[in-house]
Amino acid sequence: MIPLSLARIAQITGGQLDGTLPPLWGDTVVSGEVVIDSRRVGAGGLFAAVAGERSDGHDFAAAAVAAGATAVLATRPVPVPSVLVADVPAALAALARFVVDALPAAQIAGITGSSGKTSTKDLAAQLVERLGPTIAPAGSYNNEFGHPLTVLRADASTRYLVLELSARGVGHIAHLCRIAPPRYGVVLNVGQAHAGEFGGLDQVARAKGELAEALPPDGTAILNAGDPRVLAMAGRTQARVVTFGPVDSDASVRAADVTLDDLGRPSFTLLTPEGSAPVTLRLHGAHNVPNALAAAALARELGLGLDAVADGLSAAVARSRWRMEVHQRADGVTVINDAYNANPESVRAAIDALAHLAQGGRGFAVLGHMAELGDSSRASHEDIGEYAARVSGSAGYSGSGLAGLIAVGAEATPLLAGARRVRSWPGEALAVPDGAAALDVLANRLKPGDVVLVKASRAAHLEGVAAELLKEADR
Ligand SMILES: Nc1ncnc2c1ncn2[C@@H]1O[C@H](COP(=O)(O)OP(=O)(O)OP(=O)(O)O)[C@@H](O)[C@H]1O
Ligand SMILES: [Mg+2]
Repeated sequence: MIPLSLARIAQITGGQLDGTLPPLWGDTVVSGEVVIDSRRVGAGGLFAAVAGERSDGHDFAAAAVAAGATAVLATRPVPVPSVLVADVPAALAALARFVVDALPAAQIAGITGSSGKTSTKDLAAQLVERLGPTIAPAGSYNNEFGHPLTVLRADASTRYLVLELSARGVGHIAHLCRIAPPRYGVVLNVGQAHAGEFGGLDQVARAKGELAEALPPDGTAILNAGDPRVLAMAGRTQARVVTFGPVDSDASVRAADVTLDDLGRPSFTLLTPEGSAPVTLRLHGAHNVPNALAAAALARELGLGLDAVADGLSAAVARSRWRMEVHQRADGVTVINDAYNANPESVRAAIDALAHLAQGGRGFAVLGHMAELGDSSRASHEDIGEYAARVSGSAGYSGSGLAGLIAVGAEATPLLAGARRVRSWPGEALAVPDGAAALDVLANRLKPGDVVLVKASRAAHLEGVAAELLKEADR
């Protein structure tokens, strides 16, 4: 963060300096990171105390200062130096906005969409870093806490901020854009993620389009020409519009000749107005092609040349865990850990990848529930079960098909009911209560050459299943 005194922080946040401290205390400068996790406090940092569901940050205030924090941002008195504020997210937002305004040389890009924000942000950051010092969030730091905390990491050396913007309702992205007004905005897709909370796809589109609306006239909206709801956002922005999308669209940035290797890693020819260049991604799954195009379109707008974009995409690694991680066990079983989250679009993308990897062999899908789908939840789980069973018999898939669908937990019934709609599917459909039971089922079935996909919403914690499957290899 840029160095700020506690008195200045109190002024910016409308807070009160702890009255028990000597007056000169206000001159103490915070120079380290602002964090909400007391275990991540560093010397000279500021610890923001947040009351969560399971614990209250105020209880860790003393530990944070003992660990090196200069002071604590708190909503009630704590026994260590503090700035008392009415609302911690609002205080973080005010601080972040102050920092952004103090760093006019830093260019701000925001990335939103229903699926692929983190994957795209990680790709884009690895491109933009080639242009200059870049701040991008770790993992999915994309909400009213993670967003300002990320912005607060910027300092005078920062040239680019590549930010992930999430929404669970209308108005959320507009709010994040006020904290750090982006000049560049990327919208990936409008899908079912959190559609239950939004109240349908039109509302999702309304919310994601707030990024396009927030862009200034000298900004650039980077829109997916392959998603009509995203392309329609061109009518909601003052900014110049640039598109990425399928090869048969008229998008400026496209991918031709897409192929996948044995592990599902895409290769393609990147087409841009400047010419074309070959790209081979290290990420798995065809769904990463549009993510890569979005990252390329952004980096291109920021001034990165075609060859550097293509090289950068080919060199970029997965920075965030549990998204399409593909591991091969010594015994010849392949495990796809995609247990970070799940919504209908991302489960379809993962099943496509499973079908590709399992070509000529046997695929097993361990699927947990997809959260936050609202009224459409049951039908969506049935559709996914059907998709899994159907894709195994689709054209170009020469293997013996999806050998097993192992449905875990509460939504197992609709998942399996959907799969049984595909009468010609020869695979096995099993409902199990939890991850441990899924592991038992797999232990009796897996043979060298098999591929296992593990996928569910975060709440299901199926990443443990993938971790156990990989341990088995060492036994
Ligand atoms: N363009 C895409 N279309 C469909 N699925 C995708 C796409 N990109 C990524 N995915 C899948 O979606 C899941 C989440 O990916 P990622 O973390 O990049 O998305 P996100 O939008 O950041 O999610 P969150 O809302 O949880 O922050 C992963 O399983 C990933 O494989
Ligand atoms: Mg994310």
